[in-house]
Amino acid sequence: MKIFLDSANIGEIKALRDTGFIDGVTTNPSLIAKSGQNILEAIAEICDLVDGPVSAEVTATDFKTMLTEGRKLAAIAPNVTIKVPLTRHGLMTCRALSDAGTDVNVTLCFTAGQALLAAKAGARFISPFVGRLDDIGQDGMGLIEEISNIYANYDFDTEVLVASIRSTTHVVDAALMGADAVTLPPKILAALYEHPLTDSGLDAFLTDWQETGQSIL
Ligand code: E4P
Repeated sequence: MKIFLDSANIGEIKALRDTGFIDGVTTNPSLIAKSGQNILEAIAEICDLVDGPVSAEVTATDFKTMLTEGRKLAAIAPNVTIKVPLTRHGLMTCRALSDAGTDVNVTLCFTAGQALLAAKAGARFISPFVGRLDDIGQDGMGLIEEISNIYANYDFDTEVLVASIRSTTHVVDAALMGADAVTLPPKILAALYEHPLTDSGLDAFLTDWQETGQSIL
């Protein structure tokens, strides 16, 4: 399963890409606004830092302008993936960009029917927002199961990129369901590797080690 970082913060991305388990980055207009950076500069910098796909989202809502924005963002670097919202015009933009060889991530997906249309429009990724569905009392991970089944039924190449992740349970459930990718805020990534028993176990090992008076180097 690919792990993407859901952030537009250059410092965070720099610090975490050295861990070796970041396969790409996703951004959105809210994350760009939070970073305080110009979108074109931020995407260029992120693409320099990360080899994998970097999602950059269009902000227009009509097909013609979305396409123009998508082409401009795609020209920044070869690893830019264009993010479009799951609207009629977003799907038309997805089709046009995909036909031209540009990878598209269709975002703001909340139903399996929407995901079916994104696959038919040639999306490289579909981003279902599981946390936002859970927030309104619906079953976010149930949607991932539905989409995965539909895509398997028809051998769609579109990858399921589980988004709006709120917990490590979401990540593990996504992996158990065979989702292609997850995009994680840095705090969820940290929560994946941190465990109190790891910390206390390490403290005990190091205390015992000191008593031996040995040194490996
Ligand atoms: C994904 O591409 C989105 O940027 C993100 O996962 C949205 O998460 P949120 O619901 O926590 O804002």
